Amino acid sequence: MIDDPDSAVYRVRVAPLEAMNGNICRILMIGDVVSAVGTEKLTAVLPRLKKEYAADVTVVNGENAAVGNGLTRQAAEQIFSAGADCITGGNHTFRRREFYEYLDASEFCLRPENYGESAPGRGICIVDKGSVRVGVVNLLGTVFMEPLENPFDCMDRALEALRGEVHFTVVDFHAEATAEKRAMGFYLDGKVAAVAGTHTHVQTADEQILPCGTAYITDLGMTGPVQSVLGVEPSLAIEKMRTHLPVRFQNPDGECLLQGVCIDVDKQTGKAVHIERISV
Ligand code: FE2
Repeated sequence: MIDDPDSAVYRVRVAPLEAMNGNICRILMIGDVVSAVGTEKLTAVLPRLKKEYAADVTVVNGENAAVGNGLTRQAAEQIFSAGADCITGGNHTFRRREFYEYLDASEFCLRPENYGESAPGRGICIVDKGSVRVGVVNLLGTVFMEPLENPFDCMDRALEALRGEVHFTVVDFHAEATAEKRAMGFYLDGKVAAVAGTHTHVQTADEQILPCGTAYITDLGMTGPVQSVLGVEPSLAIEKMRTHLPVRFQNPDGECLLQGVCIDVDKQTGKAVHIERISV
């Protein structure tokens, strides 16, 4: 068990190390980092977490990591410095025009693949750790969100592109609707090692290994302030919902959580053998 000195309340459960052998690859997928307080939390906790879990590959959703929201070069570099191998994005990734150049140049800072070729950056990468090559795909949901290419069709193309190039693939599905996320989980069951939902910032308790060997969770949760509305100062969120007028959101200080999952994948079969939630 890891005791977080920042928190008297939250604890991390340690994954069963007996599951670890030469064929097992351990993946950490971390939920949406929110603003400066979130990147500070990530910087403080992730290096230790990676060591304790003996993580092979770490994927972090960073679409809200800039102060305000969206992503900046500075915030992306902080997330990589904290230990991310890959940063995934979402509907706020394109919020800042000055970030487009970085997206085009960075192989491992993704935006949802279904934005299409005319958008800056890319939604697929391969994290090559020598002994294991892991495909990462970032998709955006289309239920209650942008009318992008159908993410199921887009995923078919992504799998075709990655075929023969990787031991297995993990997916960050940044989406609003629980049903769309679960449908994607079952659609990709047996085709990818993991489908992790992001965007709604509240960690769900439905982590499971689907029947054909895909690890699944509807939402990884958030790396951000506990006493908040999805990372936003509660009084400002209330004002917005009561008045429907424009409100400049701010993020409160105070205790933060880092949330996500640890997934063990058998790299010979490409199937997940274990998933557990992290909240620290
Ligand atoms: Fe989002």
